[in-house]
Amino acid sequence: MNSSHKIVISGSGLWTPSNVITNEELVASYNLYAEKFNADHAVEIVAGKIDEKPFSSVRFIEKTSGIEARYVYTREGILDIDRMRPKFPERKEEELSNQAEIAVYAAREAMAAAGKSASDIDTVIVSCAYTQRAYPAIAIEVQHELGIEGFGFDMLLACSAATFGLHRAYDSLVSGSSKCVLAINPELVTPQVNFRDRDSHFIFGDVSTAVIMERSETCTSPNSYEVLSIKALTRYSNNIRSNFGHMAYATDVDPFGWDKLFHQSGRKVFEEVSPVAVTHISDHLANLNLTPRDVKRFWLHQANINMNKMVIKQLLGEEGNEEVTPTILDRYANTASAGSIIAFHLYNDDLKKDDIGVICSFGAGYSVGSLVLRKR
Ligand SMILES: CC(C)(COP(=O)(O)OP(=O)(O)OC[C@H]1O[C@@H](n2cnc3c(N)ncnc32)[C@H](O)[C@@H]1OP(=O)(O)O)[C@@H](O)C(=O)NCCC(=O)NCCS
Repeated sequence: MNSSHKIVISGSGLWTPSNVITNEELVASYNLYAEKFNADHAVEIVAGKIDEKPFSSVRFIEKTSGIEARYVYTREGILDIDRMRPKFPERKEEELSNQAEIAVYAAREAMAAAGKSASDIDTVIVSCAYTQRAYPAIAIEVQHELGIEGFGFDMLLACSAATFGLHRAYDSLVSGSSKCVLAINPELVTPQVNFRDRDSHFIFGDVSTAVIMERSETCTSPNSYEVLSIKALTRYSNNIRSNFGHMAYATDVDPFGWDKLFHQSGRKVFEEVSPVAVTHISDHLANLNLTPRDVKRFWLHQANINMNKMVIKQLLGEEGNEEVTPTILDRYANTASAGSIIAFHLYNDDLKKDDIGVICSFGAGYSVGSLVLRKR
């Protein structure tokens, strides 16, 4: 899709939690839990009634995913083998929700970068993998907290929530239904991680990102990017799934059972999503008469370092490097939809006028979302 109006990204923001959990800490806690579980269930395990819990390994995690640590909203409870989930004090309805709070942190930074005050903005999109309640929308709470007139709404799209949120921002700016959009991704993911599952206990971290998008006529930012084009694709798959939801009240099942938390067939996701992402990005660039070699920087989804290396190699026909596709998942882990936006936020300052960049997410749904940008 191309616009007769020039639409620009004029600022971005990032909130990084002050708490870190390293792989060493996480694996030590999981292995202690597994050891205790196996001792407590020794008889059933020997009788073949239940499976022994296998041990996790720092080496496996770093080699297969590239993740070394993750930021978390709170460390409390996660490493406690009798709990193994974060502990949040419940906030009163009159208080700002946790998710709105971290959304506001990132939003304020993006607004400052774009030189915008609340009165310049008329649309707030909160798009992420989970919202902490069904309604009122977190976006409307954020809108209220920031004093923005206009409208806001929430969007859930797991790994591609951030890019698809930016697509909706783009569309509403093209159509004229918005004049300036604040698109935020408060990824409060750790409450949905099964820290007792060896295959996925290491994958996620918490973060919040925000982007300001507007028409070029109103942009005063010293660092801005024209959005040349947007492109989205979805294809249904059960390979990444969370069944948590309001139906549990009516289906008489455990609302916190393993399938209500994040679970995936990671290998299948890797193998099925990578080629789709490669084709998607190539096609998107081809629509603009560009090739991957015309791209100065790829801000890719941050789920797995080997996946990103493979995508770049297939696009360019050779190995990439940190200059071409910066990595943030080593220290942030997978932050659901926010990964490509963190990469963009941290690694775009050095681009020169007319340099081309691509933001691309890929994952659950399946979903792939991209934006081709040109530095102004
Ligand atoms: C999750 C992921 C890192 C796993 O890496 P992988 O190379 O595919 O590993 P596999 O799942 O094939 O597992 C290989 C073996 O290691 C084991 N293993 C899994 N987790 C382990 C851990 N923490 N420590 C040690 N071994 C582990 C597996 O059980 C399996 O054992 P088996 O061969 O006896 O069955 C990887 O598949 C991935 O990142 N995929 C992409 C996922 C993605 O993008 N998801 C989007 C999420 S939003």
